[in-house]
Amino acid sequence: MKIAVYSAQPYDRRFLGEACPPAAETVYFSDPLTLDTVALAQGCGAVCVFVNDVLDAPVLEALHALGVRAVLLRCAGFNNVDLGAGARLGLFMARVPAYAPEAVAEHALALVMTLNRNTHRAYARVREGNFALDGLLGMTLHGKTVGIVGAGQIGTAAARIFNGMGCKVLVSDPSPSPQLDGLAARVGLDELLAASDIVSLHCPLMDATRHMIDAASLARMKPGAMLVNTSRGGLIDTAAVIEALKSRHLGALAIDVYEQEASLFFHDHSSDIIADDLFQRLMTFPNVLVTGHQGFFTVEAMREIAAVTFANLACHLNGRPCANALPVSS
Ligand code: NAI
Repeated sequence: MKIAVYSAQPYDRRFLGEACPPAAETVYFSDPLTLDTVALAQGCGAVCVFVNDVLDAPVLEALHALGVRAVLLRCAGFNNVDLGAGARLGLFMARVPAYAPEAVAEHALALVMTLNRNTHRAYARVREGNFALDGLLGMTLHGKTVGIVGAGQIGTAAARIFNGMGCKVLVSDPSPSPQLDGLAARVGLDELLAASDIVSLHCPLMDATRHMIDAASLARMKPGAMLVNTSRGGLIDTAAVIEALKSRHLGALAIDVYEQEASLFFHDHSSDIIADDLFQRLMTFPNVLVTGHQGFFTVEAMREIAAVTFANLACHLNGRPCANALPVSS
């Protein structure tokens, strides 16, 4: 079967190419999937898509009309997919639910450690021959309280890490993983926000969680606390976060995801004028750290993503039940 791979980067070609079985043929497009680029899938039975590809009803209908019958998500989150439209069209849709939860949790830790101890600023200073410590002061994380919102696979991995560092770990989750017993205390979101020195978001983006961090929830956070988001940008109301940073109530912000990231992330815009004023305002704060959705980006995770994507395709081709099919049954 021929598969149109959208939003393809050199590393996608490498890892999907290494895992591609003889029964499959991949064609790569650097363009994202939108209504304007659907036609690239002409002659393909499947599309392979990523986090910022558009999979709303018009796009799914257009793909179906072209003969596409399978949508292979090479990511865990599926907030960009109209599941109802896909089901109505009888499309096979599958994701890669857990390729390396530890990779994302470790990236959250990297963001916390960098922002807390200012190693990014120290790196630049030392290379300029500046060994002054002023402005690099951090806090000792041992003994601090870390609040984890969403204690699924990634949140549980993050809880393990912070527990191992001697932090007190709180989790807020309507159905947290049982693996958390002994590692973390279960609390409500308000209690978590009020008690945590660091709040790390790991729950999925859904209608119920969109802008869960808004002016009201920011006001409930401990003054000077750090907010970390490696989940989905839409969990945070960016304008409210900017106000909280300006008032100095929010102590620091580290994000790997951004609500309007689709027009920025995964591409080199270093010679462009960036029109997103909210994003540019964020960039002016010394206590804000942004990475471009790289939490998943490890060799191990990329291999797993490629292997599971083709295993999902094999289920579709052989008519076998697929544990990773969407919608998720639970
Ligand atoms: P998961 O499905 O294992 O866990 C999500 C948890 O969130 C579940 O335990 C669920 O009960 C909980 N939850 C749902 N609604 C909630 C709410 N209102 N408040 C608190 N908790 C709530 O998902 P997993 O694998 O841990 O991934 C979490 C998210 O991380 C994904 O949805 C995805 O958006 C993001 N992600 C980010 C990556 C990156 O590169 N930055 C890579 C992979 C995933």
